Amino acid sequence: MELRVVVEEPWTVGADALVVPILGEPAFEGALAELDRRSGGELSNLAAFGELSGKRYATALAAPGELPVKRVVAVGAGPAAEVDRETVRCLAAAGLRRLAGRRVDRLAVWCGPLVGALGGDAATVAELVTRGIVEGGYDPKRLYRDDVESAPPRLAELVLVVPDGDAAALAAAAERGRIVGEGANLARDLANRSAAELPPEGLAEEARSIAARYGLAVDVIDEGRAAELGMNLFLAVGRGSDNPPRLIVLRSGAPEARDAQGRLLALLGKGVCFDSGGISIKPADRMEEMKMDKAGAATVIAAAATLARLAPGLPFLVLAPAVENMPGPHSTRPGDVVRALNGKWVDITNTDAEGRLILGDALTYAERLGATHLVDVATLTGAVGRMLGHLVTGGFGTPQAWYDAVAAAARRAGERLWQIPLVDDYRADMDSWYGDFTNAGAPEGGLVKSGLFLKEFVTVPWVHLDIGGTAYFRKATPYAPRGATGVTHATLVELALEGAPARADRSA
Ligand code: BES
Ligand code: ZN
Ligand code: MN
Repeated sequence: MELRVVVEEPWTVGADALVVPILGEPAFEGALAELDRRSGGELSNLAAFGELSGKRYATALAAPGELPVKRVVAVGAGPAAEVDRETVRCLAAAGLRRLAGRRVDRLAVWCGPLVGALGGDAATVAELVTRGIVEGGYDPKRLYRDDVESAPPRLAELVLVVPDGDAAALAAAAERGRIVGEGANLARDLANRSAAELPPEGLAEEARSIAARYGLAVDVIDEGRAAELGMNLFLAVGRGSDNPPRLIVLRSGAPEARDAQGRLLALLGKGVCFDSGGISIKPADRMEEMKMDKAGAATVIAAAATLARLAPGLPFLVLAPAVENMPGPHSTRPGDVVRALNGKWVDITNTDAEGRLILGDALTYAERLGATHLVDVATLTGAVGRMLGHLVTGGFGTPQAWYDAVAAAARRAGERLWQIPLVDDYRADMDSWYGDFTNAGAPEGGLVKSGLFLKEFVTVPWVHLDIGGTAYFRKATPYAPRGATGVTHATLVELALEGAPARADRSA
């Protein structure tokens, strides 16, 4: 896809289709009035008819009149005062998806109203619109065939139409949006692909090829080395499957290197390639979704690729413990007591609380590799989805300043995050008769306890992002199809890029 930024009036740009954002109740004044006039009143007619509105992500196709396009796509942005970065990204995606099944080679997006809504920050609009178009073009059905009916069009060219500014600088911002969007789509591919296609070794192979392509160091720890190291939590989950576990480690930069903030950031992702629950087996209903229990691993592996493209040489670590959680004669049993890599004894009372087990050892190992700051991403609980739904990721962390840094990165990335408290007093509910604690205590406050469990394995600043509700959509939205969303990929990229040498083109 070619990217072009033009400083022009929106009615002069030739394209197959023109996306026009509608902020709030459509007021036909300024540029929108001129577009309406040139469309022969089509836009205002559709508004009067009730087909075109400013409702968030509502779309309408309009005939172009004398405009040099085949269709105008009006996309509602919601009330102007509520337009934020997420709105800009999703609006662009919704505009593209409204054209599903159509032949569109060149798409133009009128960015003027969005730049106004984001306080004149045209670079951010260029980045987020491009990212939204790239992410909006994703269709999981394309994993299995190329000729998908009614899929979003594959563009040859995207033209961003802006009212003023430096087109070259805006094109650079758009290019970054493209790279971040492609990273999110890579994360979605890895999460969406079936457990048969991507067992732990398959995921490791994907990581190796990304490492080779972008010059990252890769180390894949197999079950033999994991046993020598003492990663018994990790091994306890993997042992029930014929597909052996793999701890995937990617490194950018020299071993002792720190980023511009003095950090060695480690991004960790839960890679449960399939979560049957193990001996504590899950009900059959929706069990197929548990191939996406590797979404955290998919996200951090994709983030490594994105960071290598945007900031080659930036020091960071990625760790993705990959396992299949299966019942079988070799499986861990409820009641097995296992010594973690950090020496703590864990009483595994529920084999379905497996994500925290593999992450526990991975967090310890990340610190051994020199990580000074940790962020893990995991489809850790069903509870977070019951609390926050599919649009808000649950966050935990300590100290508060590090959580705040991650939350600020999420805001910049246009991703929603809400903090859940780590109430230490609940830790007593996880006491074990035999070990230091159990992996699943009384269910009350289970979401908080999942965070408290992970906290037992960290001694440096750490944030845990529970994407159990947000990692995949069960229903399509105007801006995204069903399946994996790639959520938190952009947040992690924003966070890591804070450690890249000064980026003059970047605003807070
Ligand atoms: N992978 C699941 C959590 C999950 C469930 C994510 C549904 C997305 C959709 C996780 O391994 C799990 O099974 N968690 C248990 C924990 C419980 C046994 C303490 C849960 O949430 O029920
Ligand atoms: Zn799981
Ligand atoms: Mn589970």
